[in-house]
Amino acid sequence: MGDRYEPIIVVFACNWCSYAAIDLAGTSRLHYPPNVRVIKVMCSGRVDPQFVLEAFADGADGVIVAGCHPPADCHYQNGNIKALRRFTLFKRILARLGIEKERFRLEWISASEAKKWVEVVNEMVNELRKLGPLKNRVEVRRLVEA
Ligand code: FES
Repeated sequence: MGDRYEPIIVVFACNWCSYAAIDLAGTSRLHYPPNVRVIKVMCSGRVDPQFVLEAFADGADGVIVAGCHPPADCHYQNGNIKALRRFTLFKRILARLGIEKERFRLEWISASEAKKWVEVVNEMVNELRKLGPLKNRVEVRRLVEA
């Protein structure tokens, strides 16, 4: 990995689409940086913004929430729509906390889109290498514990 900063990216991936795409990337032997820590959830609609804040507080430099393409692909009918609404608002809160927009992504990745997964990870890792570590982790920690 050398001297450059290597960010840690926590990924909340829905079981039915995005996690399957990550799995496919592995079985297809596609290469992507080892900076990601993937957490499988049943649906992107299950991801509470608190999880994202806790990930930042606990050491993540970036977070991705990944799910099935809206509107129709969610296996729980509208979990991805709920995630879309929730995280559209949440991005504004992150901005108020001084967390750069590059540090959080909501991505729709279907089970067949292993290449898209690789592209998303490569892009985010490169962006976060430029940004460096999260600067206001202590403030995020205080917010999580409040
Ligand atoms: Fe994938 Fe809902 S099951 S986003």
